[in-house]
Amino acid sequence: MQNILEVLYKKYMTQGATSGSIEFQVFFSDHASNDFNTIFASLPPSRKYFAAGVPGSFYGWLFLRSSLHLVHSSYALQWLSKVPEELLDKTSPAWNKGRISYTSSSDEVANAYAAQGKGRHAERVTGRGARQAKGTMPESFPMNGGDGPYSYAKNSQYQVVDKKYMTQAGAKSGSLEFQVFFSDHASNDFNTLFASLPPSRKYFAAGIPGSFYGRLFPRSSLHLVHSSHALHWLSKVPEELLDKTSPAWNKGKINYTSSSDEVANAYAAQFQKDVKIFLNARAKEIVVGGMIILIMPGLPDGVHRSQFPFGVLYDSLCSNLMDMVKAGLINESQVDSFNLPVYVATPKEITEVIKDVGCFSIERMEVADPRSKIGSSVNVHSLIVHFRAGLEDIFTKHFGCEVIDELFERTFLKEAEISSALESSYEKRTQLIVALKRE
Ligand SMILES: C[S@@+](CC[C@H](N)C(=O)[O-])C[C@H]1O[C@@H](n2cnc3c(N)ncnc32)[C@H](O)[C@@H]1O
Repeated sequence: MQNILEVLYKKYMTQGATSGSIEFQVFFSDHASNDFNTIFASLPPSRKYFAAGVPGSFYGWLFLRSSLHLVHSSYALQWLSKVPEELLDKTSPAWNKGRISYTSSSDEVANAYAAQGKGRHAERVTGRGARQAKGTMPESFPMNGGDGPYSYAKNSQYQVVDKKYMTQAGAKSGSLEFQVFFSDHASNDFNTLFASLPPSRKYFAAGIPGSFYGRLFPRSSLHLVHSSHALHWLSKVPEELLDKTSPAWNKGKINYTSSSDEVANAYAAQFQKDVKIFLNARAKEIVVGGMIILIMPGLPDGVHRSQFPFGVLYDSLCSNLMDMVKAGLINESQVDSFNLPVYVATPKEITEVIKDVGCFSIERMEVADPRSKIGSSVNVHSLIVHFRAGLEDIFTKHFGCEVIDELFERTFLKEAEISSALESSYEKRTQLIVALKRE
């Protein structure tokens, strides 16, 4: 891939392009069942192109109309979409008894193979394959992959796909086409994501590996960006938290909601830096008039951080870790050096960054009550399971995988305690919704 891009790059440069003006986006396409995780992990970090994975058969439409400039297929098109049916028909002269390919078979068998090859080309050229493809689609903190009991896929209350909008928009006109890019860390489980996409979807799908704290797409190529429950993940834990000489050393705590102001300020400063990077990157990628819709945990202005409901859960996890220190299962220094890289912002804080970046107008901002989406009573058990799905990776990387079951079993035993603390804090509005327009 790098060689092809080098040639293209040189060609454009000799035609008068300037180096900074050329951007490439490369789509790696394969069956949805293929191992995209391994492909993404093998991409060179220093690559000079934006990468995407496109799940689906190439015997169908995979991309928006007139959206590709170069298609390269290497050692793939010799695979037919299926074995010609006549080969299995005992009454046909093309019945391929005792053979597994056509090279030493009869002409009838070879002709059936050749016809299958031609048929598939015809499908691609006429576009009939498009309908078939849609109908037959067989430093990071990633959520739990797979679809096991503690996977993120099984435990996310929040994964809402706006099918309604897609259906209505698609129904208006046959000419309307959508391409949806699902972006996450390269280490996230794209295989499970692709397998879970509805075969009858009305959009072209692609996976984008990489941190959203950086460029992911070519300039002015996006119309709508939606980030749901992700931007509260910081790019890293603020360094001061681990410095024993700093007033922001977070001894005996794993987050900031019940820590000192110094700790909270270090988190807030990291959040401001990160969101600025996020918005600057999106400002380049979104067309003028395009929008960003952000949904993330948030706190109303003036509400103290200690009232944030999930802080209760973090504190419970922390006190269970300290109990495990007392039981000799882990060291105290392991707890002291562990901090969750998540921050919950207020409208004021996020408004400051948006104004600082300067490319977006704020169309709407509110802190809503998430209970309207998740029901009035909180099921603490499933909330803890949901947290485990999101946090397991980061806990096991720091404490080791043998600790995780013990930690969450201890947390389940405190369900009643957590429940009463949560019930009162859930009176507060904790879901920040922001709509921005690229100016
Ligand atoms: C709580 S999940 C939300 C998933 C989904 N958007 C939803 O609403 O259900 C947070 C997601 O953000 C991703 N994430 C966190 N930090 C990220 C970053 N810097 N770049 C890309 N993805 C990130 C995580 O890997 C995870 O999949």
